[in-house]
Amino acid sequence: MASLTVRQLDDRLKKLLRLRAARSGRSVEDEVRTILRDAAEEGGSRAADLIEPPASPTKRGAAVSRPAAPAGAKRVLLVIGGGIAAYKSLDLIRRLKERGISVRCILTKAAEQFVTPLSASALLGERVFTDLFDLSGEFDIGHIRLARETDLIVVAPATADLMAKLAGGHADDLATTVLLATTAKILLAPAMNPRMWANKATQRNLAQLIADGIALVGPNEGEMAEALERGLGRMAEPLEIASAIEKLLSVQPMQLLQGRRVLVTSGPTHEPIDPVRYIANRSSGKQGHAIAEAAAAAGADVTLVSGPVNVTHPPGVKVVEVETAREMLQAVESALPVDVAIFAAAVADWRVANAGVQKLKKQAGKATPELSLVENPDILATIAKRKMQRPRLVIGFAAETENINANARAKLASKGCDWILANDVSPQSGVMGGDCNTITVRASGVEAWKPQSKDEVAATLITRIADALRGSK
Ligand code: C5P
Repeated sequence: MASLTVRQLDDRLKKLLRLRAARSGRSVEDEVRTILRDAAEEGGSRAADLIEPPASPTKRGAAVSRPAAPAGAKRVLLVIGGGIAAYKSLDLIRRLKERGISVRCILTKAAEQFVTPLSASALLGERVFTDLFDLSGEFDIGHIRLARETDLIVVAPATADLMAKLAGGHADDLATTVLLATTAKILLAPAMNPRMWANKATQRNLAQLIADGIALVGPNEGEMAEALERGLGRMAEPLEIASAIEKLLSVQPMQLLQGRRVLVTSGPTHEPIDPVRYIANRSSGKQGHAIAEAAAAAGADVTLVSGPVNVTHPPGVKVVEVETAREMLQAVESALPVDVAIFAAAVADWRVANAGVQKLKKQAGKATPELSLVENPDILATIAKRKMQRPRLVIGFAAETENINANARAKLASKGCDWILANDVSPQSGVMGGDCNTITVRASGVEAWKPQSKDEVAATLITRIADALRGSK
């Protein structure tokens, strides 16, 4: 009987029925049953009234499980344009809601080719807006209200066409009308084929939009949806867009690691040859210190075990200064238990077995002293292979000058850690001592990150860690 009912409904009611089913987490058939039962209980209410999504969440049938944004929450109107990256905007909705930001959403006609209003509204917990002329009464809050009742409009993906329309002041559908009618700040996350991005017309429109005060996030460099295409034009990742939104709305960055204990090793170790000389390496500690700082900013309780560095220690972290690999191991073991351990230090693989107790003297006619080396403990492997108090997530770095991928793969297996962050530290890369880094993460799969500053690497790593820990106590 339920399937008979669905087939005979007109398109509008079918749409409403699917929307209502998605929102209450029921199948369409179950939703029909619920409506009919409610109708019978109410004795005379029209079924169509029950199908219509309620205007206010207090009306019967508003079975929306997602928490409402807190009172006074910042409001974002998300315009999803028609590009293959539209699916990422669904994740963006989730990210914004986690941050307590209230989200409304417009789908352009072209966007509906990539995501359905149903999937977006299921995530939003309310209907999405698609038509400029929506005659369905209580649904239609009007483009002027949509344009006004927001603190920020985010267009993601911003297609070449949407950018052109915005630059030219067009208003031929709901999205462009709202963009023209708003006084709120606008943020674009462009996404298009690299040749379309490089096209003079797009660049002209971009210059106009920037001059008009419109903010941008991305596009990034990378693989395109089209096979073998690469270049500038990938939409920024949802987390990047979320943090650009946080900045524009001046909301506190989310405390992603609140209540977590994080241990970070950083810098080189110094292995004495005698009381005044030592073996060292070129590690500056910039990457490890940036990670410790980002973890603390994300609300974690951080212990930073640092070798001798010239960078200043970040505020709000417990710092243990060490010199040698053996001291570093001891400090790391004393900091346990932790939820996450990140081994960014460039630990010396060997120490001098016969280090002089006094300064070695150059003596005329005598042979040059011979240094004999012994292996240092591998701190990462020792912690990763612990039976007791093994951190839930053990992360190592593979700083390589050649065969980066093969070495990273081998290291992941031999050290027993969960993730390896591989980077090229050959002199021409400028990574050692520099401010930028290009990371490939190897865990169960491989993920290449775009070249970015060490601070950005740290922020990206923290969000990945928070994702991995989500749901675990
Ligand atoms: O030096 P290697 O390339 O093996 O370093 C890979 C990872 O192992 C890095 O995360 C480094 O901090 C860690 N490591 C360590 N103790 C060592 C050598 C390396 O914790 N003795």
